Amino acid sequence: MPDSGRAPVLSLSEVSAGYGPIQILHEVSLHIDEGEIVAVIGPNGAGKSTTFKVIMGLINHLGGDVVYLGHNLVGLRPDRILGLGLAYVPQGRVVFGQMTVRENLEMGAYLERDKSRIKEAMDYVFTLFPRLGERPSQVAGSMSGGEQQMLAMGRGLMMRPKMMMLDEPSLGLSPRLVDEVFDKTVAMARGGLTVMLVEQNAARALEISDRGYVLELGRNRYQGTGGELLDNPDVRAMYLGGGVRGA
Ligand SMILES: Nc1ncnc2c1ncn2[C@@H]1O[C@H](COP(=O)(O)OP(=O)(O)O)[C@@H](O)[C@H]1O
Ligand SMILES: [Mg+2]
Repeated sequence: MPDSGRAPVLSLSEVSAGYGPIQILHEVSLHIDEGEIVAVIGPNGAGKSTTFKVIMGLINHLGGDVVYLGHNLVGLRPDRILGLGLAYVPQGRVVFGQMTVRENLEMGAYLERDKSRIKEAMDYVFTLFPRLGERPSQVAGSMSGGEQQMLAMGRGLMMRPKMMMLDEPSLGLSPRLVDEVFDKTVAMARGGLTVMLVEQNAARALEISDRGYVLELGRNRYQGTGGELLDNPDVRAMYLGGGVRGA
């Protein structure tokens, strides 16, 4: 696979991890270079969400290195990792349902002390997601699924991260909102964010990604540019509904 020539922001080298004594990830290696969108795809249960959790220090690390901008993340607490500028938007549109849009966003900046930086970050979020800016006082639990997903992504931006990890952002959304989530992901990347994207919607994810990885049973299976994976007959047959690209 050609190297992007850019500096790696995050790299995993032969990372093994699991839940308690149960090993799920087996020597997974991947890297995300500066400014890239990198997709991680694979069947249900392949270990995609588990990969995010080990990066964030949320589960049992069994071996291998996780390096983010020169910092070894292994053993660091999740809030320290967040403080290094690595944002994580978990699966399932996790928002604080009783809180307003503004309060949810403020929670995203809880490690930031400087009020003017919080305001700048919120202004950027409202520029990127105008629908949130139109209703800062709406209670998050009363918003649509798509709006909640935008809010979860917006909250992730409040720490002004260098990189964002998005777990299944399009899951369960209507086709129009799926488009919007992918468009916003591209817009965030154009704004300078490095993005690691886990998606069931593999074809769409690869279309917007520079590169991708296919995980299977907790192991690396395929990797390549978005186009290479979209054109790979095995990947197509297994994950992209078969058929020839463009047919
Ligand atoms: N909290 C947990 N405790 C034990 N096993 C888990 C837990 N969460 C996930 N698993 C298992 O880890 C494997 C990978 O899950 P996951 O990373 O969520 O897959 P994916 O996100 O690719 O669908 C699955 O076999 C799943 O059952
Ligand atoms: Mg998952």
